[in-house]
Amino acid sequence: MKKLDIDLQKLKNQYNIVGKNKALDTALLTAVQVAPTDLSVLIEGENGVGKEIIPRIIHDLSPCKNKKYLAINCGSIPEGTIDSELFGHEKGAFTNAISEHEGYFGAADGGTLFLDEIGELPMSTQARLLRVLETGEYIRVGSNSIRKTTARIIAATNINIPNAIREGKFRQDLYYRLCRVNITMPPLREREDDAVLLFKKFAMDMATKYQMPEYIHLTPAAEEVVKSYKWPGNIRQLKNVVEQMSVLSEERSITPEVLAKFGIVPNSDSEMGITITGSRSSESQHDYEKEIKMLAHAVLQLRNEVEELKQKIQGGEPSNLPATTSVPTTTSPSFTHQVPNIPQSPIPATDMDFQTAEEVLEDDTLNINDMEKRNIIKSLQRNHYRRKDAADELGISVRTLYRKLKAYGIEE
Ligand SMILES: Nc1ncnc2c1ncn2[C@@H]1O[C@H](COP(=O)(O)OP(=O)(O)OP(=O)(O)O)[C@@H](O)[C@H]1O
Ligand SMILES: [Mg+2]
Repeated sequence: MKKLDIDLQKLKNQYNIVGKNKALDTALLTAVQVAPTDLSVLIEGENGVGKEIIPRIIHDLSPCKNKKYLAINCGSIPEGTIDSELFGHEKGAFTNAISEHEGYFGAADGGTLFLDEIGELPMSTQARLLRVLETGEYIRVGSNSIRKTTARIIAATNINIPNAIREGKFRQDLYYRLCRVNITMPPLREREDDAVLLFKKFAMDMATKYQMPEYIHLTPAAEEVVKSYKWPGNIRQLKNVVEQMSVLSEERSITPEVLAKFGIVPNSDSEMGITITGSRSSESQHDYEKEIKMLAHAVLQLRNEVEELKQKIQGGEPSNLPATTSVPTTTSPSFTHQVPNIPQSPIPATDMDFQTAEEVLEDDTLNINDMEKRNIIKSLQRNHYRRKDAADELGISVRTLYRKLKAYGIEE
């Protein structure tokens, strides 16, 4: 057992993985154990938990480590071309097929093919994938001859696949076939102590990246906030918040007040800092709380935008918002909902903020694309870098969001 611990620590150092959580160790250990086999692996976990390191470890410790490792994001390939991207096509297979194309399955032959965001695969492509997994066979688009691949398949998803199966969006047989070995990455909220360790690691990384003489550090009270906060966007959110604080905070000593300015509030039961009292069944209370949070958030955001707009147009000072805003409810008088005066945007005003009408008129160079890019960035920030939620809020599909992220060069 001791030897195993030492090996895991070595692995963590090698891959820059920070954390002491048991579920993380289990995930890493499973990756090490499954690496020498040719079993397909499905990695599950919420957005931003660190799934992408697992296939890399499996590949590096596998017998095919000297062959190709290809990582494909299934959500970012347009539906119309996904089959030809994955399985290849023959010359003339469709209008733009001016030459033949090998496809990822052919290119990764003998190596590892990591299919990220597998839940985004269209049903017809899922059928083709199932065949590859079962027989190693596939057919290029526009061809009728069968090809073989020995690429080892590793898949990852941040959606609940059993739910997708129930909704008819994912094939059950493919799920079971992919799930020969399942690795689940734990959410950060279940890794309390790791959040502080990761904070320190990212603080040092950012100081190096931005050549800062001193890196930010948490006060003991702020450590408690970091531990109890739910981190809905998980490690990606934590990393982004540390980066923003490293660059924007004048204070190097991070207190709960500084954290609050960046949207990290101490109430562990509420990412919005809303206190709800009353007695309800936990499930309906959960839904109720969620609705209230969303409503409160929308109201606060609207107020903020109106204030900003008023200020810009009148050239005056913004009127002071009350320290506490009450959100009325008609459901039950026994419930009180207190919304502390939290920052309206988790991020201090930057050039990435929404443009007001006046700014739009003033800025000759601003075009629709600039506005769209800014709105996408703001939406990602509001949704704690959860791409699915941001896409829903923007009213576009995840696939379209991926395309836009790529087109605008937005890095998360
Ligand atoms: N244990 C860790 N130690 C240090 N950094 C980590 C760790 N886990 C994840 N990260 C960092 O967190 C960020 C998010 O990780 P990753 O991209 O793997 O998330 P993901 O699970 O694939 O999320 P999504 O489902 O949204 O794609 C990356 O920048 C990664 O380097
Ligand atoms: Mg990912």
